[in-house]
Amino acid sequence: MQYRSLGGNGPTVSVVGLGTWALGGDAWGPAHDGESEDAIRAAIDAGVTLIDTAPAYGDGRAEEVVGRAIAGRRDEVVLATKVGIRRHGPHHVVDLSPQAVRREIDESLRRLNVDTIDLYQIHWPDKKTPIEETVGALARLHEAGKFRFLGVSNFKPALLERARAVFPLTCLQLHYSLLNRSAESHTLPGCAKHGVGTMGYGSLAGGILTGKYRELPHFGPGDARGEFYRFFCEPVWSAAGRLLETLRAIAHERTRPVSQVAINWARRVPVAGGGAVAPARGGVTCALVGARTAAQARENAAAGEWELSGEELSRIERAWRAQIAPLR
Ligand SMILES: NC(=O)c1ccc[n+]([C@@H]2O[C@H](COP(=O)([O-])OP(=O)(O)OC[C@H]3O[C@@H](n4cnc5c(N)ncnc54)[C@H](OP(=O)(O)O)[C@@H]3O)[C@@H](O)[C@H]2O)c1
Repeated sequence: MQYRSLGGNGPTVSVVGLGTWALGGDAWGPAHDGESEDAIRAAIDAGVTLIDTAPAYGDGRAEEVVGRAIAGRRDEVVLATKVGIRRHGPHHVVDLSPQAVRREIDESLRRLNVDTIDLYQIHWPDKKTPIEETVGALARLHEAGKFRFLGVSNFKPALLERARAVFPLTCLQLHYSLLNRSAESHTLPGCAKHGVGTMGYGSLAGGILTGKYRELPHFGPGDARGEFYRFFCEPVWSAAGRLLETLRAIAHERTRPVSQVAINWARRVPVAGGGAVAPARGGVTCALVGARTAAQARENAAAGEWELSGEELSRIERAWRAQIAPLR
């Protein structure tokens, strides 16, 4: 596993992180807690240090699962959770008011069964609360020792700047994969310029970039994959299939799974002196990847053992420009 510093002021983290959205059991079909805990432990055994969760994942269930899985191994992980989205009946409510933030952190600490959170992230912007009020409240919780580093998620650059003016930001979490490169034009360069680390979610586009789907899957009602990752529909589905031909060829040559090619693309470093189609910019500091089983967690973590060459990145870039870019 390779490790990097998360932003200018942050902790060292594995380049592949473990995401736990599916482990909440309410957004990706059922989850089985024993299997979920095994997945988390397998990721840690394979060198993953960054574990990302949130109260919104299963209304606290994913945090409890993480808490049980890391019991006795607290020092091996950089524990990242979030604030600002809670369940209200069947709906999710965004609330970043100072009162909500103060209440939520204590609930997360209890569910995770830890004294402090390593990376506390604002999950989504809240139009009702000025960000300065939220971050001001968080700064006081930091003084009280309840978390070590602050991050934001799904923030546009202007909002990130306002938050950063109140308290140092370690990281931005954002949607980033071969099927969503919208962050490349402004967001990723802005973060790099200001020393803010980046964590990309949906590195496998909800599973498509593993190459495991030969036919368009149909998910049940309430399953977020088809709604949140809008790639399980045409025309993206077929274009992704054609892009996958290139990922499959590289995976075959490397005797690696397709999933690892997609993950390694997301956390690539810029290609120095590359040709006209080599990506001039790098990817994210840490590619977050969800896993429901120990086997998936091990497979994904092993992406942190190797890197794509400049030539391979150029091939992927050419395929992306031919298949995905025209859809934007
Ligand atoms: N900040 C935010 O707003 C936000 C939003 C989304 C996600 N996130 C975070 O980012 C993490 C990663 O994103 P994600 O989980 O949404 O999507 P993802 O990583 O693109 O996809 C994960 C899913 O792909 C399947 N999978 C994973 N590894 C596999 C393998 N090796 N072989 C076959 N299938 C495999 C699993 O689902 P199946 O087994 O069901 O196919 C898994 O749940 C989340 O878990 C969460 O922590 C944050």
